[in-house]
Formats: sequence, C-alpha cells, structure tokens
Amino acid sequence: MFGNKIKEETRIPRHIAIIMDGNGRWAKKRMMPRSYGHKQGMQRMVGLLERAYDLGVSFVTVYALSTENFNRPQAELEGLYNLIRNHFRAYMTRICSRGVTLRIVGDISPLPADVQQTLLDCERETAEYAKDGKELNFAIGYGARAEIVRAVNSAVEKGEKVTEESFSALLYTHGEPDPELLIRTGKEKRLSNFLLYQSAYAELYFSDKMFPEFSDKDLEKAIIWFSGRKRRFGKTDEQIKE
Ligand code: IPE
Ligand code: IPE
Ligand code: MG
Repeated sequence: MFGNKIKEETRIPRHIAIIMDGNGRWAKKRMMPRSYGHKQGMQRMVGLLERAYDLGVSFVTVYALSTENFNRPQAELEGLYNLIRNHFRAYMTRICSRGVTLRIVGDISPLPADVQQTLLDCERETAEYAKDGKELNFAIGYGARAEIVRAVNSAVEKGEKVTEESFSALLYTHGEPDPELLIRTGKEKRLSNFLLYQSAYAELYFSDKMFPEFSDKDLEKAIIWFSGRKRRFGKTDEQIKE
C-alpha cells in the first residue's frame, strides 16, 4: 500500500524506540541456548542502529534489559553481562563513530561492578564522537515506572511543583524529543514497562519476527508504515490540512 522502498518523501521519525524481544525463542527454535539468541540479538542491534542513523534517524532508544528482567535465572543474566564485558566497547565504538552520543538509561546499580564500569567507560569514551546531535539511549536496568518514581522524588526533594516540561527534564531522556515510532519485535503486543511517559503519542509497530531476524528491510518497512500514519495529536483531519 505504501510501497516498500524508502523514498525522498518518506517521513523519517526523529526518534525510534525498539523493544528487542524474541532472542530466547529464536534460539530455542534452533535448538540453541538462550545466550546464543542474546548474542545474535546484540549483533543485529548494531546493524539496525547503523541503518537507522544512515537513514537520518537522530535518536534511537533500545531496550536491552528491564527492571523485571533482573528476575531471570542468574545464568542467563551472567550470559548477558558477558556479552557486555566482551563486545560492548567494540560495538559502541562502531556505532558512535558515526557521530552518535551514547547514553546509558536506567538504574545499573544491580549489575556487577565491572559491568557498570564498562557501561560508564563506554559512555565517556564515545563522547568524543558526538556530532550532529545524534543519540543512542541504551536502556539497561530500565523500567518506566521506576524512572517516573525517581523523577517524582527528585521534584519532591526540590520542593517544586512540576509542569509537563519540567517533569520531562527529570526523566532519563531529558533534552530528547519523544519517540515517534515504537517498534516491538517478538510477536507480543505490550509495552513491558518501556518509556510509558515518553510514548504518549508514539506510533506503535508490532512485528511477529524475533529480534535476531528483524532485518534492515524490516526496519525500513516499519518506517514506511510510520510515514503513512496520520498524526493528528487530537485534532481533526480538516485542521491538519490547513
Ligand atoms: C529479549 O529477548 C531480550 C531480553 C529481555 C534480555 P527475550 O530474552 O525476552 O526472548 P524471548 O521473549 O524469551 O524469546
Ligand atoms: C521486554 O522483553 C524487555 C526487553 C526487551 C529488554 P521481555 O521478554 O522481558 O518482556 P515480557 O516479560 O515478555 O513482557
Ligand atoms: Mg521476551
């Protein structure tokens, strides 16, 4: 209906948020351990990010680990931590050298100390690449409710009433535009505690593909779908045309 190629007139979202779900099921189907799915998922993430920034997206938020995911078996979490220990720096260097600033989004204090350190080091080390205002939010130990409660508490501490604007400034995503397109892979149609405040007006795109098999073409398909949406923000079609 909208064609399947990005064209000059395709509206590229400024900010895309991605719930990278389905690594475990993807691996299981191939008789492989879940950790293999996470490894392939992380590699796919890098490819997708490169494609997104090349297409002109300025902000991407990827959901790598939720506050709820801390309840997973310790062995699976350890596998994820090892991925960060062994590959995160190289991956982030690859992405950020395209002029992207890395922001770690979430409460990383439950992570092993060396993993926390790797994340923060990468944030610091890649800061030199910052250019053109492109940003990557890597959401880890992230939960939207925790983020909102944290913001409320910091407003309370300041003893100030908040406005929508000043409240946004207390969130991890401060200073960034809200996501316009939110993609979830892995068949489920839920938000799983992701960017609940920021996604108030996001277009929601659900893919049946498991994250490791979500291709660059699939990303383009989602963007073309987004480009065809009428974003009314409460107004009527007639008002939009004016
Ligand atoms: C998403 O994939 C990645 C993380 C939550 C860390 P899952 O691990 O949830 O994969 P499925 O949903 O079990 O297939
Ligand atoms: C959401 O995936 C979190 C991430 C992708 C990091 P889950 O697989 O944890 O979501 P639920 O628990 O099925 O809702
Ligand atoms: Mg899942």
